[in-house]
Amino acid sequence: MRWWDIEPVLELERELFPRDAWTPALFWSELARARGPYATRRYLVAELPGADGAGGGGRLVGYGGLAAAGGTGDIQTIATARDRWGTGLGGRLLTALLGAATEFECEEVLLEVRVDNPRARRLYERFGFETVGLRRGYYQPGNVDALVMRRHMDPAPPDHGLDHGPDPATEPQGSPQGTVPHG
Ligand SMILES: CC(C)(COP(=O)(O)OP(=O)(O)OC[C@H]1O[C@@H](n2cnc3c(N)ncnc32)[C@H](O)[C@@H]1OP(=O)(O)O)[C@@H](O)C(=O)NCCC(=O)NCCS
Repeated sequence: MRWWDIEPVLELERELFPRDAWTPALFWSELARARGPYATRRYLVAELPGADGAGGGGRLVGYGGLAAAGGTGDIQTIATARDRWGTGLGGRLLTALLGAATEFECEEVLLEVRVDNPRARRLYERFGFETVGLRRGYYQPGNVDALVMRRHMDPAPPDHGLDHGPDPATEPQGSPQGTVPHG
């Protein structure tokens, strides 16, 4: 995700998280932490192919972000356009975020999810997240509880000095570039 993605991301954000959409300032602040050698964030976007058929440049249809600190990653946000739900895009974004967690050498990844969000819960369970806690009334207004979910990360495989080309699983465009996690 780059700064020019913030506007289209905000459009999706307001539609998909009408009660607690992030502000532009929050995205700017997160992207600022996603650059440089001491970056602690990774934000990704998924775009449809552009008019020339090349990857990227088309409509922005998904995004996600991860924060890392002290060996723990946090999924800050993940969302896909409503007309792409059920196409596997959420899974591809999550795969890419978990890849970023591995790069940040995270031993575990945590997230919060609304108890009334079965689609997201199912996605996380499919990726090996387990419920480890409940935060009552975490989402306000509405007083909706959050489940805290955790996934242990496998240790990174040894680096054999191979040139790591692009991983098809990380199709969402990683970008040098959350903290109020979304449910
Ligand atoms: C949650 C979200 C990111 C999932 O994205 P997606 O592109 O639909 O993800 P996928 O297609 O990879 O997978 C969705 C899973 O939910 C399942 N699913 C679909 N409808 C469902 C329903 N009504 N109840 C339960 N599961 C459902 C799908 O079957 C699929 O699981 P499966 O592959 O095991 O069958 C997307 O729905 C979204 O952006 N929602 C709004 C924002 C949001 O809630 N974000 C999560 C915050 S924690």
